[in-house]
Amino acid sequence: MDKKKSCKEFIVYLKYFMLFVISINFLIFFNQKNVISVGYYSKRTEMRNKIKLGIIVFAVLIFVIQFVPVERDNPEFNAAGEIQATVDVKTILKSSCYDCHSNETVWPLYSYIAPVSWLVANDVKEGRRELNFSEWNTYEQKKKNKKAEEIKEEILEGKMPMPIYTYIHQDAKLTDLQKSILIDWFSSINLNAAAE
Ligand code: HEC
Repeated sequence: MDKKKSCKEFIVYLKYFMLFVISINFLIFFNQKNVISVGYYSKRTEMRNKIKLGIIVFAVLIFVIQFVPVERDNPEFNAAGEIQATVDVKTILKSSCYDCHSNETVWPLYSYIAPVSWLVANDVKEGRRELNFSEWNTYEQKKKNKKAEEIKEEILEGKMPMPIYTYIHQDAKLTDLQKSILIDWFSSINLNAAAE
């Protein structure tokens, strides 16, 4: 909780800092004689000014998009809906899948900075819609079986966790042992269901 708060505070400071840097750049840029004076100045200066203006415009754009609201909330935790699995399985799911497939997403610092924040929020939204381990228990058996098959497939094909995610979260990469633990467990729930 505290960590999240300090994270948010940091972002607010970052935004003020950016505003400061942009303002200084504006002042410097428009105080240059060669921008205001109508007289002759070289092609080279003209080119440089264009580049500088481009950078300022880009900075302003990045600054402005920080204020586009991004949905980054975790729905209320409900223990009854959570998947019941062995400790091993739960630990792996928590470290490799929960950020996108549960209501307990740990939002990283970069998820507060647009435009990256838009991508992250979208992945979490879609990830939860496809598969939510915080709501697994509320799924019908048929849906559980279908999802279990999909999970095994995604793991075997190395598609999940998403590579863009494991690139940053190296510890979320599944080892061969972790893969087999997950695959065994998600196969076993299907067998249990068949026996019922
Ligand atoms: C960075 C976010 C992220 C992480 C981490 C992640 N997923 Fe996903 N997952 C998604 C998104 C987004 C989708 C929906 C779009 C798609 O299918 O690519 C998805 C879809 C799925 C699907 C449904 C695929 C289908 O057939 O449509 C399964 C199953 C799945 N993930 C399993 C897992 C498992 C198991 C883990 C952990 C080992 C995991 N995911 C980790 C983001 C993530």
